[in-house]
Amino acid sequence: MEPLIRVKNVRKIYRMGDEKVVALSNVSLDIYKGEIVCFLGTSGSGKSTFLNMVAGLEKPTRGEIYIGKIPIHKLNEEKITLFRQKNIGFIFQAYHLLPMLTAAENVSLPLIFRGMDKKKRNKIAEEALEAVGLIGYGNRRPTQMSGGQQQRVGIARALAGTPKIIFADEPTGNLDTNTTKEVMNLIVNQVRKHKQTLILVTHDRSIANYADKVVTIQDGNILSVTVKNSIDEEEKGEKRNEQ
Ligand SMILES: Nc1ncnc2c1ncn2[C@@H]1O[C@H](COP(=O)(O)OP(=O)(O)O)[C@@H](O)[C@H]1O
Ligand SMILES: [Mg+2]
Repeated sequence: MEPLIRVKNVRKIYRMGDEKVVALSNVSLDIYKGEIVCFLGTSGSGKSTFLNMVAGLEKPTRGEIYIGKIPIHKLNEEKITLFRQKNIGFIFQAYHLLPMLTAAENVSLPLIFRGMDKKKRNKIAEEALEAVGLIGYGNRRPTQMSGGQQQRVGIARALAGTPKIIFADEPTGNLDTNTTKEVMNLIVNQVRKHKQTLILVTHDRSIANYADKVVTIQDGNILSVTVKNSIDEEEKGEKRNEQ
């Protein structure tokens, strides 16, 4: 099976005046459709840089990134934006909800870019809020909800319209332990149900339990890749060995 996402020798250097920060040194990784991949590393290890690069929010200094056959590193701003709107959902640590919009409006807004009419958008938003356990919360504004509820709205927004790939950057970073479990179970159940691919980055080791593949990252380098044993993974491993 071909990987869905292929990251090849990606390097990212940030320049600040005369100073160079090597955020990613030389990172290569394959991710398969339906995988839940967890990047684990301390603050400053390059997790967000990796995620932003694969999501096309930033360009690598060197290296290649393919999603399917599409060379993400080569696309111009306009093409990458269209690709993202169609194929990618993003969950943020700080929720990034628009404060003047209701929960339902926050969820339905990005669907405008997928060319859906208002009726369809509203229906999908309602279903997405229902899927994250927020029936009856559609008219609330972010300030009228708890952190956990706001992140559920963030999840509904990312999942609405079932994009192929979900990225999550410290999705539980602002939540307590119990809410972290609730939110992680919710994300994983939804992603599995719709056979989506999830890449999440975190400094929280407990999150690794939810993943099929755990990638540890330190100072911009991948230290280890641990694949949990599932029949699928064993098959893929054998195929890789045959090549
Ligand atoms: N826009 C930027 N300009 C300069 N340095 C940056 C920028 N973004 C990130 N960095 C640096 O790159 C390194 C990796 O950052 P980041 O990917 O945000 O780490 P993490 O998400 O693991 O905390 C850090 O040293 C950080 O300070
Ligand atoms: Mg980060």
